[in-house]
Amino acid sequence: MTLSNVWKITLEIGQQPPEFQIHLNDLNGNDFNSIFRDNLPMFQLELRDETSRGQFSPCFVSAVPGSFYGRLFAANTLHFIHSSYSLMWISKIPKEVELLNKDNIYMASASPQQVLDAYYNQFRIDFSTFLRCRSEEIVSGGRMVLTVLGRRGHEDACREGCCYIWEVLALVLKQMVAEGLIEEEKLHSFNIPIYTPSPREVEEEVEKEGSFGINHLETSEISWADLSNEFRSTDEPDWHYVSRGVRAVSEPLLSEHFGGFVMDQIFEKYSEILHDCSTKEPETKFVNVTVSVTRN
Ligand SMILES: C[S@@+](CC[C@H](N)C(=O)[O-])C[C@H]1O[C@@H](n2cnc3c(N)ncnc32)[C@H](O)[C@@H]1O
Repeated sequence: MTLSNVWKITLEIGQQPPEFQIHLNDLNGNDFNSIFRDNLPMFQLELRDETSRGQFSPCFVSAVPGSFYGRLFAANTLHFIHSSYSLMWISKIPKEVELLNKDNIYMASASPQQVLDAYYNQFRIDFSTFLRCRSEEIVSGGRMVLTVLGRRGHEDACREGCCYIWEVLALVLKQMVAEGLIEEEKLHSFNIPIYTPSPREVEEEVEKEGSFGINHLETSEISWADLSNEFRSTDEPDWHYVSRGVRAVSEPLLSEHFGGFVMDQIFEKYSEILHDCSTKEPETKFVNVTVSVTRN
């Protein structure tokens, strides 16, 4: 339900519409100014048009910088929490991964079992910390809807979901090492801090932490081709568009590790490889795991 729907329903039943206070959270380095400058004015105008035909719409927006793996808000102050495509980012690369995953940059099929276990353990620690922190901040009966990039339920964590995008990136980085554009040592010490959980893994952590009851848990999928065609009229996937999406997500990590000067080359090669491999991987899909919970 959108904010304007809530506004309309309360007016229809003769009640005063509620005032909304919305807090936007991201890491300290996020450019909150760009959201306030480029997105917020349009959002407020649209809301005003939809809700009150020119009257003031009571919706106040503020930014809260910091990691969601720690406390962000005062106790018992939130009524609804939404997180989208963020909780698969784990808080750090575990030591075992740094030591044992030198030839890969993620959970690859060639990664040792200790690497897969270490990624999963880090996800469990982080996700239960997130649940504990939010459980202190949300009121009893408050709700959370979390969508995370995940897996359908396949037990093999390195065969599903977003693994393919990182396999392609690993291929690009190895090519660049071979061409002398990147130091091999740099590649060995690079790992992506993401874990894509299955619905069962999400369910187990929510139940183990114990503060929330699950209302609904589901998976949904979006294919690469659909994603790349969202704004296009042809059926031909736009691999540059997919490559730009992967760049938006991974560039901060890559440029910090390898230096900003190689970014254009990395992503030019990335779309070339995607294009060449597209006939082999036509059904590559992103899997979303969404859970809706209520604070006990
Ligand atoms: C893929 S973007 C998703 C953005 C938006 N929620 C959406 O659905 O389009 C992931 C965001 O999570 C943020 N993020 C990652 N780890 C975080 C953490 N520990 N605390 C707060 N934000 C984090 C990143 O900075 C990034 O902006």
